[in-house]
Amino acid sequence: MGRAVDRKIAGCATLDGEVSLPGDKSISHRALIFGAIAQGRARIGNLSPGADCRSTMACLGQLGVEMEELCSSPLAVEVRGVGGSGLREAEDVLDAGNSGTTMRLLAGLLAAQPFLSILTGDRSLRSRPMGRIMEPLRLMGAQVWGRGAGTMAPLAIRGGELQGITYRLPVASAQLKSALLLAGLFARGETTLEEPGPSRDHSERMLRAMGARLEGENGRITISPLSRPLKAGDVTVPGDISSAAYWLVAGAIHPHARVRLEGVGINPTRSGILDALRAMGARLEIEKEGWEGGEPVADLLIESSELRGIDLEGDMIPRTIDELPLLAVAASAARGTTTIRQAGELRVKESDRIATTVGELSRLGVDIEELPDGMVIRGGGGLRGGEVDSHHDHRLAMALAVAGLAGRGEVVLHNAEAVDISYPAFWRDLDTLTGK
Ligand code: S3P
Repeated sequence: MGRAVDRKIAGCATLDGEVSLPGDKSISHRALIFGAIAQGRARIGNLSPGADCRSTMACLGQLGVEMEELCSSPLAVEVRGVGGSGLREAEDVLDAGNSGTTMRLLAGLLAAQPFLSILTGDRSLRSRPMGRIMEPLRLMGAQVWGRGAGTMAPLAIRGGELQGITYRLPVASAQLKSALLLAGLFARGETTLEEPGPSRDHSERMLRAMGARLEGENGRITISPLSRPLKAGDVTVPGDISSAAYWLVAGAIHPHARVRLEGVGINPTRSGILDALRAMGARLEIEKEGWEGGEPVADLLIESSELRGIDLEGDMIPRTIDELPLLAVAASAARGTTTIRQAGELRVKESDRIATTVGELSRLGVDIEELPDGMVIRGGGGLRGGEVDSHHDHRLAMALAVAGLAGRGEVVLHNAEAVDISYPAFWRDLDTLTGK
């Protein structure tokens, strides 16, 4: 990431227009990684241009995968798949940067490759829990080591023969599920995974489309080892609903807003933000529903709304996991109280998103209280100007910028460059919508 940048965000008279969103980050990682171990070439259009997917590309390059950039905006890349046994030992440490998806998915893949890999990341990623992937990979027979008694990166993985397992995931985590699906592709025997809740299913959709045998759903899936390599196929990545979400909330809480977002992925395992905003009373329309890259997509139209508080817990948490800091901003502008519970996973994201969201929104005058597994926001009073910090967390940076757009005073955001992780054009799109 670049050097520390401060940004000033002032309230604007209107929020009006249309932006095209970056490609979905989760789907982009998968298109790159699955494409790398497929047989043949695949063109990936509208790939996420953020630093996280660049980390995945750099790691795959070190493992011997050739990629060619076909277009820079929107980003399009051709991946030359090396097949199931074509990866080679990297000459150096693999650096996943800030990206949990890169580290966890690659750990699953590398556990089955007959060579040594060392994976590291930035300070945030090196403090995030890796025991959740190391433990089941060890049960499958992998040799894995990590700092903190195997719970944190840097990770060392000596890949080799794996055995399929039946495993109940301790958390609803698509990163964990996908790591084990990747390991299961190369294991002896089937791997069955039971999930406590509905985490995003992009891996399952894409692996099936590429010829993998995956059975079951509703929280229990079984993957069979590959009998032939995955089939490469061109794909266009849908717009990222987690990026669209900033404009949806900005539009809903701004008094003079009308924003249209085209071609947004609305996979039901990701679309909790749409349900939450509707439950809060947002004027949100879903139009032109269709399909892109094996995923449901639609155009979204949001207009100024009178929001009310809601309670978020249970299955809604994994379905809104990356949008919860932003929903706290929506809740600040809503009438009544919003309670977020059973969201302890927020504490182990790019920052401790319970502590950082509560701390930074308090600085903007929001009546917000920290719970061990969530937060309570008493809406209607806050959102004044002030100085806030992203804590180097891209989602918090953009949520705070949205708070500034609809607020009653200037917000100065420190470490604003964090947006580059998933949405490098965020500030340009903000200027477009505010008419600057
Ligand atoms: C992701 C899954 C989620 C999400 C993250 C991306 C993915 O993490 O928070 O931003 O691409 O699989 P968990 O699966 O760990 O909840």
